[in-house]
Amino acid sequence: MKPIAKPGNAERIEGGVSTALRHDSGHKHVTGEAVYVDDIPVPANCLAVHIAQSEKAHARILRADLSAVRAAPGVVLVVTADDIPGVNDVSPVAGDDPMFAVGSGPGTGLVEYAGQSLFAVAAADIATARAAASLAVIEYEELPALITVDQAMEANALLEPPYTMARGDAEAAIEKAPRRLSGRVRVGGQEHFYLEGQVALARPGEDHEMFVQCSSQHPTEIQHVVARVLDLANHDVTAEVRRMGGGFGGKESQGNLPAAAAALVARMTGRPAKVRYDRDVDMTITGKRHDFRIDYRVGFDDEGRILGIAFDQAVRCGMSHDLSGAIADRAMFHADNCYYLPNARITSYRCKTHTVSNTAFRGFGGPQGMVGIERVIDEIAHSLGRDPLAVRRANFYAPAGARSDRTVTPYHMTVEDCVIQPIVDALVDSADYEARRAEIREWNRANPIIRRGIALMPVKFGISFTTSHLNQAGALVHIYNDGSIRLNHGGTEMGQGLFTKVAQVVAEEFQVDIGRVRITATDTAKVPNTSATAASSGSDMNGMAARNACRTIRERLVAFAAERWQTTPDEVAFLPGRVRVGGEEIAFDSLIHEAWLARVSLSATGFYATPKIHWDRVAARGRPFLYFAYGAAVSEVAVDTLTGENRILRVDILHDVGRSLNPVIDLGQIEGGFVQGAGWLTMEELFWDDAGRLRTHAPSTYKIPTCGDRAPDMRMAIWDGGDNREDTIYRSKAVGEPPLMLGISVLMALSNALETEGGAYPALDAPATPERLLMTAERLKRAAR
Ligand code: MTE
Ligand code: MOS
Repeated sequence: MKPIAKPGNAERIEGGVSTALRHDSGHKHVTGEAVYVDDIPVPANCLAVHIAQSEKAHARILRADLSAVRAAPGVVLVVTADDIPGVNDVSPVAGDDPMFAVGSGPGTGLVEYAGQSLFAVAAADIATARAAASLAVIEYEELPALITVDQAMEANALLEPPYTMARGDAEAAIEKAPRRLSGRVRVGGQEHFYLEGQVALARPGEDHEMFVQCSSQHPTEIQHVVARVLDLANHDVTAEVRRMGGGFGGKESQGNLPAAAAALVARMTGRPAKVRYDRDVDMTITGKRHDFRIDYRVGFDDEGRILGIAFDQAVRCGMSHDLSGAIADRAMFHADNCYYLPNARITSYRCKTHTVSNTAFRGFGGPQGMVGIERVIDEIAHSLGRDPLAVRRANFYAPAGARSDRTVTPYHMTVEDCVIQPIVDALVDSADYEARRAEIREWNRANPIIRRGIALMPVKFGISFTTSHLNQAGALVHIYNDGSIRLNHGGTEMGQGLFTKVAQVVAEEFQVDIGRVRITATDTAKVPNTSATAASSGSDMNGMAARNACRTIRERLVAFAAERWQTTPDEVAFLPGRVRVGGEEIAFDSLIHEAWLARVSLSATGFYATPKIHWDRVAARGRPFLYFAYGAAVSEVAVDTLTGENRILRVDILHDVGRSLNPVIDLGQIEGGFVQGAGWLTMEELFWDDAGRLRTHAPSTYKIPTCGDRAPDMRMAIWDGGDNREDTIYRSKAVGEPPLMLGISVLMALSNALETEGGAYPALDAPATPERLLMTAERLKRAAR
């Protein structure tokens, strides 16, 4: 063999797996260079589309006179359900989300939430379209509206029959237990408040083809819904997503309507068309996190060990299914959190209300389920006068490797990988929990007005889609003849750093610097039949699919090199920037060039299907998750009991990401998740009036955490014991959602601040806004008198 290149001297590639590489677009996000859908230059004849919304929560549409809308100056097109060539439905699963309520076919004539889509208006600019829409004359016959969970439960208005997961005999165990308590906790919903709202730009092509650029976690579903609405085959429609300015679950299904509306206008006019919701439209038309009412009964012993427990979770789904089935299921799957519940019954009520159809939100129901059990643990501790941490520890699942039968969940999956004990032990040390708790108790004895609280929250979160068939992913990798690499996969980038992580995997597989790997937009024409980027499984699944594509190409390169230079395949090794073939080394790009000349295919697809998982929904048994991610947080707060004003003073987090693919991106997810979780439970409050109108529909009335709300002292670390016993991508663990639930520690700390020894339990609902804290403090004072 002729040495084609001198041996390189770089011993490590730049940006491989486990390096602290910055997000590939981080600098572009802050300088404004990152291109979002609304930044894409559009042709001069592009139309702006406005969606007109229902003013009533539940009403029959007696008459819809759109003549003034059509006649308004500048209006190009008004579309109703009667203009839809395909199906009047933009739902993700159940076929129950009409695209337009105005028209004469199925799905029309009835509105089921204030804010529901009625019809759409297209004009040269959005102001013209919006002004014209307001000229519609809609006559409604109002029907009784169920707005709250309580109203729906009272009326027995459910989308599907109640669903139960059970193990052992909960009722008997509760009755027999030496101690019992029962109660109710309410957990509010949450607006996603992605910085970039819902948006879609549709361009008509030849022969009915439609190209949609949008902000979606689920381009494949956009493709399928647009095809369904336009009566096209899936191959006629292409959806492309370069990035989202945040998704948080709010762009799994909620992008369907804007994409379908843009595509319908584009189809009918032959002109490009764009839908971009303004903030008020976005907040009133799109689904949110489900609010829950959780009733519990628990029997326990003098140590606080749970012997039997029953949960009834009432879930506000809204007017249609959307993803509520799977979300309500995940709430049940997380009603145990880290705790072994020997006798448990969890029943879920999927309430149908005349409010917006609620949807995925980071944690997908898991966080609500966890608030239930954490409340129970806290209340048990209060009733026993014990440190809640001691009660938590007494109930943990048996640690990985221990010989114990305290490992089986209420859904009959065995927890094989429990590492919560070492994480909590390490955090208790590093956060100085015991001493601070003692000091805070002293403080509270002396200070009745400004009270302080502290709480430790453990998290165990199941990784995999619980709908088993969604656990599949694909990738497409090209190497060009100069050695540069183009990467595509089915996952979407919403700020979480997925594209960076998967590019790191590709760099690692070929042992090339990350700069050689070009990251490209998610595109249904490149990788088909993908699942939403969701369930935190983006890097697990797309990382594996990309690795498999790389390995296919690598095998071809190895076979080629062995043959070309007369050696055996095991004598070929990928080293940083070069390949060793027998005794010689060749630069990576030289090898690629040689392979190209020799007509070796340098492009491959890769596929991955998560192994081991199965779920029998009827029996409520199985192994819905490949593994669990763990973490723990200690939060300390101060509350002014005269005003309810409160601060987070300090936060300590230790989180398990297995072997991190990228520690800085993981830390970003941990911090962002925590802050979003704390915001949900303390300051973000959705308010619907009695007529079912959302009154918190803009940043003026809906408060999300800002950088000023971040604890001044925040100490976050990735757990150094992290590993994954399952064969995941480089033994990493998913990180997107689990840290959100660490924010529950703030709710528990606020509750702790209001507790007095021997006094009544605060029974704080979420969000624990200043008003609610003040009312709770007042109630406790009255009870103590
Ligand atoms: N991080 C940022 N910056 N923006 C987001 O929209 N979404 C979260 C989480 N982290 C989100 C985020 C949600 S809901 C999920 S399911 C995961 O990211 C999805 O990405 P992953 O599977 O690649 O972790
Ligand atoms: Mo995340 S709620 O699974 O998009």
